[in-house]
Amino acid sequence: MAERKGLEDLPGVGPATAEKLKEAGYGSIEAIAVSSSSELASIAEIGESTAQKIINAARQAADVGGFETGDLVLERRKLVGKLRFGSKALDELMGGGIETQAITEFYGEFGSGKTQIGHQMAVNTQLPAENGGLDGSVVIIDTENTFRPERITQMVKGLSARNGTEYDIEEFLKNIHVAKAYNSNHQILLVDTANDLANKLKDTDKPVRLLIVDSLTAHFRAEYVGRGTLADRQQKLNKHMHELMKFAGLYNAAILVTNQVMAKPDAFFGDPTKPIGGHIVGHTATFRLYLRKSKGEKRIARLVDSPNLPEGEAIFSVTTEGVKD
Ligand code: GTP
Ligand code: MG
Repeated sequence: MAERKGLEDLPGVGPATAEKLKEAGYGSIEAIAVSSSSELASIAEIGESTAQKIINAARQAADVGGFETGDLVLERRKLVGKLRFGSKALDELMGGGIETQAITEFYGEFGSGKTQIGHQMAVNTQLPAENGGLDGSVVIIDTENTFRPERITQMVKGLSARNGTEYDIEEFLKNIHVAKAYNSNHQILLVDTANDLANKLKDTDKPVRLLIVDSLTAHFRAEYVGRGTLADRQQKLNKHMHELMKFAGLYNAAILVTNQVMAKPDAFFGDPTKPIGGHIVGHTATFRLYLRKSKGEKRIARLVDSPNLPEGEAIFSVTTEGVKD
């Protein structure tokens, strides 16, 4: 995997220019690489020819937009890891677990188990492959302030009992890196921070193998209200999703995002089970699962979109010890 460079590594970008670009949401080489010279010139207050040089350098550094041959794609696909849920039914539904190098979206109403699955996966990721993990650490972008270390503790205890091993709870907590996102711009910027962290941990024994964004859409939904702002919102969300996808490829990581359904549909005939973010999120997420509540601890997951798996449903439970059949 390529060495990750910062904006300051681009010729013509000093600290002041880098700062302006970051503030405007152009925090990564990739974002610069796909921007236009006029756009960059006005944001960074530089000449257009300088802007073009910066873009050219960024394109080389980022290696975006090129073709590659099928054998190389296959080579990379061989590295795809599967992260197991701890529920056989869910694992089977997903063909063995959630994949790395992909975005998996969980959507559903409040209390349907999205955040609980996130917590469980933050624990499971740290397990060795033979126990269904990815032997890695975890980054959580927490937009709703719902990360609870106490739940991690309960789940590690549950896992210890299940696997007959005494796992070190402290270790599990130390390998989860949580940041609160205060608004949608901050949320987008935190993917850059996650990149820095992943780069730093890349050659350690616990590289970042899971990135969670819980919730992907809550800030966007709250900030962009009304029809007039919809295009803006979708454009930002689209960019955000692509940066997440890039992260997945760069670090062979699984991306887990959560999304609520529209409780109050905009239109009278709107579908109340439709996820927020519409087709932008839908087309960029590789796998989509719709969660709904059933009796008590029972939950139902429906795989609604996948490039290589049949649609289907799985029943699982959310318990004090975590997610299980
Ligand atoms: P929103 O973020 O509000 O959209 O919901 P969500 O889909 O993220 O729901 P979440 O994953 O937070 O699920 C909450 C539900 O999980 C609760 O209603 C409980 O049913 C269950 N739950 C959470 N903590 C515990 C626990 O410690 N023990 C048990 N048995 N269940 C729990
Ligand atoms: Mg939640």
